Amino acid sequence: MGKTIIVTGGAGFIGSNFVFHMLDGHPDDRIICLDKLTYAGNLSTLCSVMDRPNFRFVKADICDRNAVNGLFEEEHPDIVVNFAAESHVDRSIEDPGVFLRTNILGTQVMMDACRKYGIERYHQVSTDEVYGDLPLDRPDLFFTETTPIHTSSPYSASKASADLLVLAYHRTFGLPVSISRCSNNYGPYQFPEKLIPLMIINALHDKPLPVYGDGLNVRDWLYVEDHCEAIDRIIHDGRVGEVYNVGGHNEMANIDIVKLICHELGKPESLITHVADRKGHDLRYAIDPAKISRELGWLPKTKFSDGIKKTVAWYLNNRDWWETIISGEYQNYYEKMYGNRV
Ligand code: NAD
Ligand code: DAU
Repeated sequence: MGKTIIVTGGAGFIGSNFVFHMLDGHPDDRIICLDKLTYAGNLSTLCSVMDRPNFRFVKADICDRNAVNGLFEEEHPDIVVNFAAESHVDRSIEDPGVFLRTNILGTQVMMDACRKYGIERYHQVSTDEVYGDLPLDRPDLFFTETTPIHTSSPYSASKASADLLVLAYHRTFGLPVSISRCSNNYGPYQFPEKLIPLMIINALHDKPLPVYGDGLNVRDWLYVEDHCEAIDRIIHDGRVGEVYNVGGHNEMANIDIVKLICHELGKPESLITHVADRKGHDLRYAIDPAKISRELGWLPKTKFSDGIKKTVAWYLNNRDWWETIISGEYQNYYEKMYGNRV
């Protein structure tokens, strides 16, 4: 018999890709998307699945205990996958409060409901940012699941706090949890505040491409579908109480990503503008995915050279999706973050 799975944050970037992945790969399961529809959540992203009989969308805040408990009473979920979060580091530097509320207290509310009503698995979608950063001159170092938590931004501190709470609920209450800590994702439906879609969209408009500092900071990029497949394997076959790092050994300096986007779009590199660095900017992320490959046989399928082409093509072919976004409140966001950033 199919499972009932609550996917929180399923109207955002990775959550929506996960909803599609599960509906395609597990047609007997019932997928309930619970999302507050913040600035980062977009119902139009889910329009292609809205009428599926085994899909339901519920607009609610994961911090709203009554709404969350009511949904558990109605749906009796077997599995919860918690993607819902404030996810942008720069916003957390401007205004940390909402990050602590959603990312920590929201996680608590979801796990309390799991304890109250019973659950087969609670899965927390976390990030490699909980490990802090690695030096640029030590390419031999990688984050493993035993690397100490050492956070830099209010965002990463809130995600690390949630991870600790998840492990505490496992140890103290026996809640059947798992955690994945993934590197930077890219692909369709990513909100254009993040590096890759922001650069694609600015380049298409011949606008400056704002690279923070010298652009030598390194991120470890993974195509979003590979992340979804990793979570699918963890919730079905991963060990309870365990953390799994997810990443594909694809480290690249920011400046090289931006140059590649210019090349893909036939735009001049002269659009690149170095602007003031991010406060507390992490130097390098690099995941060691040995545990998930060894235990669950997971390996990334999409090479970066193919994934970035697919992503650029997606933004070229889905202008309506992002034009609606950037014509609204995004303008104020952009002016506030980049207007005086020299
Ligand atoms: P996103 O910002 O694109 O989407 C977040 C979604 O959560 C949105 O749909 C938003 O409406 C919803 N949401 C926010 N607050 C909510 C609340 N209080 N109640 C209910 N819904 C709420 O984020 P993303 O990039 O898709 O990231 C999803 C998860 O994956 C996050 O937990 C993030 O920390 C983690 N993660 C992201 C990356 C990445 O590269 N983007 C990498 C590793 C881990
Ligand atoms: O590593 C996983 C994390 O990746 C996730 O947990 C976060 O939710 C996700 O937002 C992402 O965090 P980053 O801070 O790494 O991603 P972002 O796209 O904001 O920035 C990537 C790099 O690009 C970073 O070094 C900052 C730089 N950057 C970013 C923007 C938006 C620029 O140089 N210019 C920009 O305009």
